[in-house]
Amino acid sequence: MKDRLIIFDTTMRDGEQSPGASMTREEKLRIGRQLERMRVDVIEAGFPASSPGDFEAVRAVALAIKDSTVCGLARANDRDISRAAEAVAPAKSSRIHIFIATSPIHMERKLRLTPEQVLTEAVNAARFARRFTDDVEFSPEDAGRSEPDFLCRVLEAVIAEGVKTINIPDTVGYTVPEQFGALIRTLRERIPDSDKVVWSVHCHNDLGLAVANSLAAVMNGARQIECTVNGLGERAGNASLEEVVMAVRTRQDIFPCDTRIDATQIVPASRLVSGITGFPVQPNKAIVGANAFAHEAGIHQDGVLKSRETYEIMRAEDVGWSQNKLVLGKHSGRNAFRQRLKELGIELDSEEAVNAAFVRFKDLADKKHEIFDEDLQALVTDEAHAHDQGERYRLVSLTAHSETGETPYARIVISEDGGEKRAEARGSGPVDASLKAIEIIVNSGAELQLYSVNAITTGTESQGEVTVRLQKGGRIVNGLGADTDIVVASAKAYLSALNKLKSKVERINPQM
Ligand code: KIV
Ligand code: ZN
Repeated sequence: MKDRLIIFDTTMRDGEQSPGASMTREEKLRIGRQLERMRVDVIEAGFPASSPGDFEAVRAVALAIKDSTVCGLARANDRDISRAAEAVAPAKSSRIHIFIATSPIHMERKLRLTPEQVLTEAVNAARFARRFTDDVEFSPEDAGRSEPDFLCRVLEAVIAEGVKTINIPDTVGYTVPEQFGALIRTLRERIPDSDKVVWSVHCHNDLGLAVANSLAAVMNGARQIECTVNGLGERAGNASLEEVVMAVRTRQDIFPCDTRIDATQIVPASRLVSGITGFPVQPNKAIVGANAFAHEAGIHQDGVLKSRETYEIMRAEDVGWSQNKLVLGKHSGRNAFRQRLKELGIELDSEEAVNAAFVRFKDLADKKHEIFDEDLQALVTDEAHAHDQGERYRLVSLTAHSETGETPYARIVISEDGGEKRAEARGSGPVDASLKAIEIIVNSGAELQLYSVNAITTGTESQGEVTVRLQKGGRIVNGLGADTDIVVASAKAYLSALNKLKSKVERINPQM
């Protein structure tokens, strides 16, 4: 029998460190449930000592999740470790993940500690964490740039303290596959009792090599990969969960192990994370990008029609693409709607939320004849945002006018705390005019950092999904809006970002 490759998801911890990707407790719960549904082995739910909000969120995930191990991150000190232990305590299966930097540059310039002091702190932290649980993971941060001899000393010492998983992070995404694979092999060969622990890797994508490095590590004995949905994470992100899982599954002729992931949950997870964080998925992204299974070239289409395997190494439906299947229409009733949400694994928190989503569904069905799974997912994301944040601003109506040779113009009505306000503005296009009109009303002073539009499904009838990133006072938020009219979608996205900026619901890592 093949070995199990453990999938450790850190979307809610490392992924949350992307600009504007901070999540509320409710959002973490929603993502946690989807990860459990996908059969992720370990869910790193956050960094409990970083804020009271993150502590509460990790605790809520620990209470809700039954089939995955719930993990909390901690620096190598007693306070962090106690907070992490307390936060994950309610979980059926829990883990504490401790880390301390071991590279010369991090020890000297960041920690201002000598290697001997780092060694002592690592050992003390491992010993302290073991008082709470026998499932302790240890990471020597920036291992990719650490001296192998020193790494061996530290890792041997923490293994002697009873650490069960040794995770090797390439924190700055500096290594290349052959070198990283060799590092894992060397550590496993040189460290006594290395066979008593699980070897794990955590690769960042600064050189676009995170997945390649992770897979090279697997070929050299690693049996846990730390990764994130859509490759979300600090800077260029982490190894992407969907790419790791599908590479190993598709190339079973090469890999000596496999995961227990339910791959049909990959696309729903990708959409959920993208919707919550406001990070769109690039169309040519492997596995979860809109074009990942699209064959444009005639010669390819011809080949696929004759025999699918000519150009396809995976089946779209195996990773959860619905093939833009028509699921519901204008005449579908509440029960059909509820049933389809259930099949998609979407749980709304209350009957009130189902009713509100159903009203939005009927509005959409009036504009768009065929409603696909992707439309439902966008609609529910919209509704969940509105529900979680209490929605200070809501779009009431929008008129936009553009004509060649004329300056585009928009007139907008929004409700603010129940009262209606209106404004009009001109701009370089109808989107620009609409956002300027909103600003006349709200005068937010926020800086627009990103604006992007994606089609949710195919065809010109498709809904456009707009992402807006706003920055104010060092705080960054992403807003998302979907509509068949992209000017309306843009206004919704802008208002959603403003609602997040104004919301009293704590965003756990607001990147202040
Ligand atoms: O990149 C990194 O080194 C980390 C550690 C905390 C594992 O995220
Ligand atoms: Zn990291």
